Amino acid sequence: MLRQKIVKLLGSKNPVDQVLIKGWVRTRRDSKGFSFLELNDGSCLKNIQVIADETLANYDEVRRITTGSAVTINGRLVASQGKGQSWEIQAEAVDIINIAPDNFPLQKKRHTDEFLRTIAHLRPRTNKYGAVFRIRSELAFAVHKFFRDRDFRYVHTPIITGSDCEGAGELFRITTLAPDKAAIQDGVADYSDDFFGTEANLTVSGQLSAEMLALSLGDVYTFGPTFRAENSNTSRHVSEFWMVEPEMAFCDLVGNMQLGEDLIKFLVTWIIDHCAEDLNLFARFVDKTLMPTLENIVSSDFVRLPYSDAVDILKKSGKKFEYAVDFGKDLQSEHERYLSEQHFKKPVALFDYPKEIKPFYMSLNDDDRTVAAMDVLVPRIGEIIGGSQREERLEVLEQRISETGMPQEPYWWYLDARRFGSVEHSGFGMGFERVLMLVTGITNIRDVIPFPRTPGSIEF
Ligand code: 4AD
Ligand code: MG
Repeated sequence: MLRQKIVKLLGSKNPVDQVLIKGWVRTRRDSKGFSFLELNDGSCLKNIQVIADETLANYDEVRRITTGSAVTINGRLVASQGKGQSWEIQAEAVDIINIAPDNFPLQKKRHTDEFLRTIAHLRPRTNKYGAVFRIRSELAFAVHKFFRDRDFRYVHTPIITGSDCEGAGELFRITTLAPDKAAIQDGVADYSDDFFGTEANLTVSGQLSAEMLALSLGDVYTFGPTFRAENSNTSRHVSEFWMVEPEMAFCDLVGNMQLGEDLIKFLVTWIIDHCAEDLNLFARFVDKTLMPTLENIVSSDFVRLPYSDAVDILKKSGKKFEYAVDFGKDLQSEHERYLSEQHFKKPVALFDYPKEIKPFYMSLNDDDRTVAAMDVLVPRIGEIIGGSQREERLEVLEQRISETGMPQEPYWWYLDARRFGSVEHSGFGMGFERVLMLVTGITNIRDVIPFPRTPGSIEF
């Protein structure tokens, strides 16, 4: 007989004479003549109640089943007498797969997120983390659905690369050289003996490669792991995260902002429609304002505002910020949150940032001091999307690369794209974990990725 999933059984229309399930015991409760097992197999938030009768041959063993143990149940799916559940299983056989000793850390009580991070290998067995990772899975599917419905092609861009897309130098180096073999030539590291014969690193963004595919396939997107060696221990940064990066040929900044808005609204709506049970846990126990916040995102038109106007608003706000605001300075999370959370009370797309604080590839505006950049800011998180229209003019791009102090030679192919049929094109990167924070109300990014990597921490 085939194993069935609890999610299917709980949604059953009729009683079933013979079922086989396997799962982990959340609790066991004994009463006169019976033992009740709450069983979860990860297929949904809810447990199914199993009633083990004292007539079972191994009833003595059943009464020694502990929280965290794994069992196989054969039995009948019957209408439940208990409150809050429609079906339960009357066990005909309870087979113990593995007994968890009493020191299983997830006993029935509330644990702090901090503690659960120290047992990241077990936390998916809690209600909350099971729900996060089911929502994560559904969200990934929704990303593909959104783009496929719009005829975007899914492209795979390299993880190992020789370029630094963001030009911020936050690179993890890849090498096969033994630590004592890394040669220094005239004070400069020499990688000619290294695996690729040159410097190599983990990608900080698939954008540069995605542009090449957009300039041939039209509308494309990448969705993959991304790495940043920025030494910032914040609740919004991890060293390894997943980024969704659409790139569109024949598209300007306005079209880009529209796509960002449509994407966020689509994803939030999808999760509301497809993850109701899991989402409800977050609305009840994590953030009481979650549902109104999500409804507001779906129903409002995002504000579109030039960066310079945002600076004015922040200066006039009368708020005491930790970091000063001035034209030419990067906005901090506190400023981004003030704008979307308090001032506008909805998502905000800021555009036309000073060129000094943005990467070389962004299209230079006619004012010569701003670039066609856009950042989408959302309540509680701040920046969730960063993107731009790309510089399509060869000379301007060459000039911008030199200005930012980067070498031109490794970007010869990127420049080539401006030599042959160069066209207006735009794209952005959306932090997948930040979207998960948005839809769950979870405030620490370490809690929306199964095994977070942060400075000084790579356990699990
Ligand atoms: O703004 P960023 O750095 O933009 C780029 O990398 C562009 N090349 C993307 C593009 O245009 N194709 O990063 C994009 C998004 C941010 O808005 C943020 O949501 C997320 O990626 N992000 C991070 N998420 C988690 N941890 C980090 N360390 C992140 N750094 C960026
Ligand atoms: Mg950014």
